[in-house]
Amino acid sequence: MAQQLIGKLAIVTGAGSGIGRSTCRLLRDYGAKVIAADRNIKAAEETAKELGDRDIFPLEVDVSSLQSVTNAVGKTYEQFQTTPSIVVNSAGITRDGYLLKMPERDYDDVYSVNLKGTFMVTQQFAKAMIEHKIQGGSIVNISSIVAKMNNIGQANYAATKAGVISFTEVASKEFGKFGIRVNAILPGYINTPMVAVVPEKIKEQVVMRCPLGRLGEPSEIAEVIAFLASDKSSYINGAAIEVTGGLK
Ligand code: NAI
Repeated sequence: MAQQLIGKLAIVTGAGSGIGRSTCRLLRDYGAKVIAADRNIKAAEETAKELGDRDIFPLEVDVSSLQSVTNAVGKTYEQFQTTPSIVVNSAGITRDGYLLKMPERDYDDVYSVNLKGTFMVTQQFAKAMIEHKIQGGSIVNISSIVAKMNNIGQANYAATKAGVISFTEVASKEFGKFGIRVNAILPGYINTPMVAVVPEKIKEQVVMRCPLGRLGEPSEIAEVIAFLASDKSSYINGAAIEVTGGLK
């Protein structure tokens, strides 16, 4: 596996933190050059610095802006004279709150990043892959087990993450003929800044319900992303893979 991604170019959104940062590390360690894309450029630069600045290229991208995403496609091509064959959609946000009190803004923001952002990044980079005749493309979308658990207080988040699963399946059917695979991962509760803000009581309940009795680590999601990104998973397409320690 260590050499699995040599010669590949990847772009990871949400690369400034958590699962995205861990994915940059692993894809790079497995041989890929990695564009670390984040709305927070300082965080993306921090990722590159933390990883020793080798083969990690920070890029400011707001996945909720079509202009920003199309600029990213152009800048990437300018810099590398090619288009990434690996796209990881990890950018995501939460704005939890009870449905009856949820401001429209909180619904829209979560939708714009988690679902529409995944749509725009997938669409624009897949177009570029097809145009540049990239072989063996792989797109990995980060959904969430919340798409199935449908927690109270997460109507906006759960709806977007369920949407990512359906979106992934449609994309896998449409892109198969171009040799581009599209898969989704449903992480459980993972030790990242996103989960750091979840109340302790809820985290304790999650750990109790999880057969492995602990939260996951970002590297445990990154390993599955790296597998799906690599040709080792060449017949996996349109899948939604739970990586939750058994939490349902
Ligand atoms: P995180 O909060 O640690 O990192 C998210 C990153 O996305 C941040 O660097 C942030 O700047 C970036 N980002 C936010 N909006 C953006 C935008 N519009 N454009 C570009 N970048 C943007 O989150 P974490 O935990 O690493 O989550 C990554 C993905 O995994 C998210 O999609 C999240 O919903 C999903 N997930 C996380 C779980 C967890 O337990 N941590 C569980 C299940 C799914």
